[in-house]
Amino acid sequence: FIKIYFIQGELIMKVLVVGTGAREHAIADGLKDDVELYCYMSKVNPGMSKIAEFKQGDEGEVEKVAEYAAEKGIDIAFIGPEAPLGKGIVDELQKNGIKCVGSTQSAARIETDKSFMRKLFEDYEIEGSLIYKVFDNSEDVSKFLDEFDRDVVVKPVGLTGGKGVKIVGDHLKDNEEAKEYSCEVIDNVMGGFAQVIIEERLIGEEFTIQAFCDGKHLVPMPAAQDHPHAFEGDVGAITGGMGSYSDVGGLLPFLSQKNYDKAVKIMQDTIEAIAKEAEPYKGILYGQFMLTSDGPKLIEYNARFGDPEAMNVLPLLKTPLVDVCKSIVDGNLDTVEFENKASVCKYIVPDGYPETEYAGELIEVDEVAIEKLGAKVFYAAVSAEDDGIHLSGSRALGIVASGESIGEAEKVAEKACEFVKGNVYHRRDVGTAELVNKRVEHMKEILN
Ligand code: GLY
Repeated sequence: FIKIYFIQGELIMKVLVVGTGAREHAIADGLKDDVELYCYMSKVNPGMSKIAEFKQGDEGEVEKVAEYAAEKGIDIAFIGPEAPLGKGIVDELQKNGIKCVGSTQSAARIETDKSFMRKLFEDYEIEGSLIYKVFDNSEDVSKFLDEFDRDVVVKPVGLTGGKGVKIVGDHLKDNEEAKEYSCEVIDNVMGGFAQVIIEERLIGEEFTIQAFCDGKHLVPMPAAQDHPHAFEGDVGAITGGMGSYSDVGGLLPFLSQKNYDKAVKIMQDTIEAIAKEAEPYKGILYGQFMLTSDGPKLIEYNARFGDPEAMNVLPLLKTPLVDVCKSIVDGNLDTVEFENKASVCKYIVPDGYPETEYAGELIEVDEVAIEKLGAKVFYAAVSAEDDGIHLSGSRALGIVASGESIGEAEKVAEKACEFVKGNVYHRRDVGTAELVNKRVEHMKEILN
């Protein structure tokens, strides 16, 4: 077995992708043709294991990841999930001389410490913030909520794997339940802080902008919209995201260029503030915004690609991802080109998800038929065993298609979903004209 270290006479880079989900599979897929690819993953992703040399291990054990990277002579490490960033994986890799697409522990506080993030907006007078307060005791929470006559969102200050945020009107009936949940957050030190952050609940349409950052320059990607509710028609539990779409031109049918630019300006101001307050921010910045009657407001930042939103934008990249990675680590990020197409991603999940009754069951994925349609498969929480692919209790795989319009991409993605068989479910409405128009009408009502 002889490894190819050269492509057309050029020395190729060794790139390590850290993480195990569909987001990391999409990152690895974007790199695979141009680099010698390595992956460090807690579970063996059936897609990534086919295209990379890999090690199975806990991504949160940052010293072990750094040891592996040093042993393999990795040039650049691309960190997929937030948890290792919060544990200082980049600081550890950098100590070993490895450059990273990912932020240092102190810069990652933009995601891992929501009170740091909100204070940054205050101190640097960044547009797009909202009414919020941080509390460390239930009496003050009660007093505040008795006087605040609007619905709120209750958030743990630190990381909770996407499971800590509760919204009045969705997970919580009213502000009385918000008080009870706030006490739980403080008493159980959820997310590692004996604090809770309470924010006004914004009304509007949510959208995502992801951006490449090199510490100074920020290059935004096409906007996308995720669908957090488990079931069609936006009902059921709030999940990590059941599917997402992006549109031709990089905007969304309800998002104007002016509001996209405002959101990007908020992100640019944020990385300038992080560089002053912490360290230069290198990696991916994910901005989750609410488009309100008062323009875009920042709901939260993630220090990583979105999942599923990474699957919308990465397959549309025209500039090789390895070149973007090099520019990020070298600090000379410039133009990044995307195909001018729409995309639709649909997550296939176990029936009854987020319940886990079908965990362990076998599914069939006809990758060849899916690829023949021009769609892509990105594996998430599944395990590859000798007899095939087994479900875990979580999102199983993302199916992504692109096209000249959202409708065209949706039809291909929907057709491709038929080639996944088993006790699985997906939201057929993601990317359909009916649902997209509902968003547009909702936004029109808000703006009028
Ligand atoms: N799509 C939500 C997230 O990536 O956090």
